[in-house]
Amino acid sequence: MKSYNIAVIGGDGTGPEVTREAIKALDVASKKFGFQLNYTHYDFGGARYLKTGETLPDSAIAEFRKQHAIFLGAIGHPDVKPGILEVGILLKARFALDQYINLRPVKLYRTEDCPLKDKEPKDVDFVVVRENTGGIYTGVGGVVQKDTPMEIATQVMIYGRPVVDRCMKFAYDYARRRNKKKMLTLVHKCNVLTHCGDLWVRAHKEMGDRDYPDIQQDYNHVDACTMWFVKQPEWYDVIVTENLFGDIITDLAAIIQGGLGVAAGGNINPEGVSMFEPMGGSAPKYTGKNVINPIAAIAAAGMMLDTLGETKAAQAIDKAVTGSLNSGKIKSLAAGRMGMGTTQVGDLIAAAV
Ligand code: IPM
Ligand code: MN
Repeated sequence: MKSYNIAVIGGDGTGPEVTREAIKALDVASKKFGFQLNYTHYDFGGARYLKTGETLPDSAIAEFRKQHAIFLGAIGHPDVKPGILEVGILLKARFALDQYINLRPVKLYRTEDCPLKDKEPKDVDFVVVRENTGGIYTGVGGVVQKDTPMEIATQVMIYGRPVVDRCMKFAYDYARRRNKKKMLTLVHKCNVLTHCGDLWVRAHKEMGDRDYPDIQQDYNHVDACTMWFVKQPEWYDVIVTENLFGDIITDLAAIIQGGLGVAAGGNINPEGVSMFEPMGGSAPKYTGKNVINPIAAIAAAGMMLDTLGETKAAQAIDKAVTGSLNSGKIKSLAAGRMGMGTTQVGDLIAAAV
């Protein structure tokens, strides 16, 4: 029997609650499709940081390297200054494990969950491939004359051709494998970012012309893209974009698919260890109340199975999520308004798997 080792970081706030429901669905799927999942739980997060000063030690990264995947619930603690846990845990894992793709499927399950007028599930169905370890996130730059009237700070958008090319290749391959419109839209700002933008534009065109004649090439400026997400989301199939633009547009994308309750993502190293997470935060005010929506976490677990190669099990989870949402039993996707608790939603989906 195939067996996979999964590192689980429940994390802060509602993270552990949604993680439990994801594991419920995973355990049903693994039994049904005949593979084994071995979990190792880690307590990284705000609480541990406040106690020990430790975020994500190198020893944990070394252990993660030996796992097949990582599942992350949520990171974020009201008593920890912004940036410490994000940089110390999430970004550290992304960089150390070279998870250079942030994969964000954007799929509206139910018409009533969409804030856009006259849009249905068939209209909101695309995937964003966000470059996940380069650009402004590398932290290249600095500050001089801090706390003086002349203070100067820089943070540089830095991209090398290999970093752009490997992301582009993943996106083209994904568009081909997805086999829908077979269109890859590059989102950038090449009218202003005449160096970095131009690099992405050439990488997109040259690779597309050479290796992917079956995939249509398309381009949006990032500002225009935010308008089209609202006006005509049905245009999109697969989007590829640099790190910061991808961060911004995927939050907009999350809300048009029904919000953080259903938005899942993967930090992917196609040749290494990937990390899957619901897009929502730790939601401190809902912690321990059994009201948070676990669907995003369950969908992230499905993505994890897909990446591990357990395609049928991944499809079963996806179907179970879709079926449960369309059953009419879950009233809303918002925390506290689902008409049932976190564990009940988890039970419903696990049973459907
Ligand atoms: C995301 C988050 C992170 C990012 C933060 C928490 C560092 O917003 O995964 O989109 O900016 O990438
Ligand atoms: Mn973000």
